Amino acid sequence: MPATVIVGAQWGDEGKGKIVDLLAQHADLVCRYQGGPNAGHTIVVGDETYKIRQIPSGVVTGKTCIIGAGCVVDPTVFLAEVDELEARGHATAGRVHVSGNAHVIMPWHVAIDQASERRLGNLQIGTTRRGIGPAYADKALRIGIRVQDLLDPKILRQKIEVALAEKNLWLEKVYGEPPLELGEIAGRFEEYAQRIRPYVADTSLLVDRALRDGQSVLLEGGQGTLLDLDHGTYPFVTSSSTIAANAAAGVGMGPNRIDRVMGVAKAYVTRVGEGPFPSEIVGPDQERMREVGHEYGTVTGRNRRCGWLDLVALRYAVRVNGIDRLALTKLDVLSHFAELPVCTRYRLRDGAETEDFPAHQSDFHAARPVYETLPGWEESLDACATVDDLPDAARRYVAFVERELEVEVTLIGTGADRDSVLAPYGLAALTGSL
Ligand code: IMP
Ligand code: MG
Repeated sequence: MPATVIVGAQWGDEGKGKIVDLLAQHADLVCRYQGGPNAGHTIVVGDETYKIRQIPSGVVTGKTCIIGAGCVVDPTVFLAEVDELEARGHATAGRVHVSGNAHVIMPWHVAIDQASERRLGNLQIGTTRRGIGPAYADKALRIGIRVQDLLDPKILRQKIEVALAEKNLWLEKVYGEPPLELGEIAGRFEEYAQRIRPYVADTSLLVDRALRDGQSVLLEGGQGTLLDLDHGTYPFVTSSSTIAANAAAGVGMGPNRIDRVMGVAKAYVTRVGEGPFPSEIVGPDQERMREVGHEYGTVTGRNRRCGWLDLVALRYAVRVNGIDRLALTKLDVLSHFAELPVCTRYRLRDGAETEDFPAHQSDFHAARPVYETLPGWEESLDACATVDDLPDAARRYVAFVERELEVEVTLIGTGADRDSVLAPYGLAALTGSL
């Protein structure tokens, strides 16, 4: 089982954490390649629930975890997670490694993310307000602070000083916010630096060595395809490249070393934040799906917007990621609906229908869903131990998705718990050749 990318095929929150947790049991190394604490992975093991934002979810299974160069790291969040994991019996020392090239989310990034969203008013993006965009912006401007800068107190203090001189002007003059205090921030980050030091490593080298040794590596994406900075629904996207190809760039390995790309999609769709969403449900089923699916943000607690499965968007995700197998999660949520509309095409402004995701934002904005309605099964999936136990209508729903996308659904989620997953083609087929 060599290198496998696990990528969100929708707008994030597809249940990647759970799939990574499952596959991580058969992997050696689990890496994040982009994003930061905007991600929120929920993993349920027995009575224990873990909500992890910064560290790869493989940490719960005790695997070696890597935060790659393409990530942004908030030391406050990182260290709080380390403390919580340690307190719950999960060792992190020697097991969690952070790239020295990853960028640090500083307090001004968080302050500016919040102030900028407030200022945008109803034009806001609906970010997680965790400083992600401003941190990536500074990285692109080449004025960011990297994890390796934390290792040298002199460089760190100087960088904070230079940054604050400018950021405080922005905060005060542009956003009307109170300035941040140099002494407080420098002191706090010097302490963080001491604690983070042992976790900093040459993560590209670690991945290379693992692959050379024949170990298996999981590359875990944050957010989802439609939140990709280049290929998503810009500007309602996150500030990094979420798609599978960036897994190689984000950890620092050749793209030819990726063997498999597994997409993760919910059996329906959710989106948090603003932006167009063609298959969004209108009417009482919206609230109903949110309730049965517990569709509230892990990071922000916001209501997620709910919609029927959108195969136009999913077909696009298969294309831009090279998805060669799909995990379909939360099928059990659909047990509560008698009829299941599935969006197979969009109707465009000129009345034409298309199976292809619109390349132009205005076409996407105006796109109306064309549904095929499949029968529901209206029974619990709790007792389904194998695919054969699934109600006929549930099996037909999955087969419909496979046929439309021309991709095998190799995992089906039937409940929140770690064990509530079916593998239609066998788990051995997944892990052996993964
Ligand atoms: P940011 O990543 O905080 O800048 O937020 C940009 C957009 O991405 C917003 O619409 C967020 O709701 C969305 N977003 C960011 N992270 C996640 C995630 O992990 N799941 C779902 N949506 C996310
Ligand atoms: Mg999430």
